[in-house]
Amino acid sequence: MELRVQQGNITEADADLIVVNLFAGVTTPGGATGAVDQALGGGISQLIAQGDFSGKAETTALLYASLSSRGALNTSQSRLAAPRVLLVGLGRPDRFGIAQIRRAAAVAAQAAAKLDGVKTMATIIHGAGIAGHDTAVAAQEVALGTLLASYRPKQYRRNNPDDQLTSCTVVEFSAEKLADAQRGLSRGEAIGRAVCRARDLVNEPPNLLTPLEMAARAQSMAADVGLKSAVLNEAAMQEVGMGFLLAVSRGSANEAQLVILEHAPAGHAEEAPLVFVGKGITFDTGGISLKRPADMWAMKDDMGGAAAVIGALEAIGQLDLPQRVIGVAPCVENMPDGTSYRPGDIVTGMTGKTAEIISTDAEGRLVLADALAYVARFNPIAVVDLATLTGAIGTALGLHVRAGLFSNDTALQEKLMTAADHSGERLWPFPMDEEYEKPIQSDMAEVKNSSGRAGGLSSSAKFIEHFTEGYPWAHLDIANMVLADSRINPETPKGATGYGVRLLVELAERYAVHS
Ligand code: BES
Ligand code: MN
Ligand code: ZN
Repeated sequence: MELRVQQGNITEADADLIVVNLFAGVTTPGGATGAVDQALGGGISQLIAQGDFSGKAETTALLYASLSSRGALNTSQSRLAAPRVLLVGLGRPDRFGIAQIRRAAAVAAQAAAKLDGVKTMATIIHGAGIAGHDTAVAAQEVALGTLLASYRPKQYRRNNPDDQLTSCTVVEFSAEKLADAQRGLSRGEAIGRAVCRARDLVNEPPNLLTPLEMAARAQSMAADVGLKSAVLNEAAMQEVGMGFLLAVSRGSANEAQLVILEHAPAGHAEEAPLVFVGKGITFDTGGISLKRPADMWAMKDDMGGAAAVIGALEAIGQLDLPQRVIGVAPCVENMPDGTSYRPGDIVTGMTGKTAEIISTDAEGRLVLADALAYVARFNPIAVVDLATLTGAIGTALGLHVRAGLFSNDTALQEKLMTAADHSGERLWPFPMDEEYEKPIQSDMAEVKNSSGRAGGLSSSAKFIEHFTEGYPWAHLDIANMVLADSRINPETPKGATGYGVRLLVELAERYAVHS
């Protein structure tokens, strides 16, 4: 789908469908909606008067321009260039914020996609009128909501219908606000496309998206956007001593790859970077501690952290944020085999610290441990890891509400909480007290990779913390966020959600402004 900005009156927009809006409680539409109402001969006012549309959030009404209300402008009478009008409810003005702007755009894009005759749409910028939101911010959310709602997963079928919505034109009436609208739209587009890239990676089947393929896609994205990139293969990982990661990879026929992406903007290229690390298990069978078969297919999502990091770096590069950012994605497959690592094994990671393997299914923390030890060389200002680490996070927080946040640095934790609330990708903090070390103490090694169920979430983070020396660090357990078994809301479809991209971009922006 193509997005563009155009100056003018929505009544004159040449599209198959135009979108206007209405706040709950409004009986006489004003602004752009009022102009369209007039061109329709009061059609919108009539809908409201008959009680068929109240402006309630997430509701829509479709109106058709009659022959007399269509065509070129003549005399003083206003007319509509478009044959259809979609009215979208904005809800109560006192509950209206940027999330509602995004939601309204998403609802409109979804409704438009259901109309077979609609290939092109044009919309006003929700929230930028009477509600008084900043034009750039509102345009960003309109672009984002439109792209997120229009996402379709790649299909592997012989016959595929084409995407039917091909373009969305964002119409801004005021010439003075046009540049802001364009800037906002470009930002929303960069972020929206990056979220869709993360979704594509997660949705991809695990036979096709091997560690090698992930590395290839990350590198080709990096070349497109102008990021620096490097990949370590297993020999290179051996050289730096990544014994944990290599133990996990041992049973797989697909070689592990450690992807490193860097955004080093002019003037900031030498500064200490913000670093993101994403768990990239392209498929998690559990290894010798094999998972039960029923839902095992869903473990193709175990690279959701890596996908979020790759997507975030794409957006950050595209936006050219004035902040050095490095993304690291250890991509590994966890398989059972005669060569696999076993429960009972003791392995040595990059820092030299040893771990006793209790479960080969607790592979994520091992892979993260080596990746987190590796990034110390960048002298980061902060490191955030994202991982589909535990089933328990979903038990604690439910699905698709908030991811878990674990940190030993209050300043970083606060930054993340703020970025989470602002981006709409919410987090909830968990404790990191010393006592949570106890369950991961090993009789023979320095630490063990799995504990009992009690306090298991905090103990999993405590394991990772062992390998995070030299920088402020936070761990996000996103296992309850990355894959949805049905549509969550108008912006978030069934399947991969792309969770984490918007949060990381928001965090990077905050570092760019405040450091
Ligand atoms: N990738 C899984 C966690 C997971 C579960 C992700 C459900 C997405 C949905 C992880 O590697 C894992 O297997 N964790 C174990 C840890 C246990 C062995 C300590 C778990 O949660 O059962
Ligand atoms: Mn596992
Ligand atoms: Zn896993």
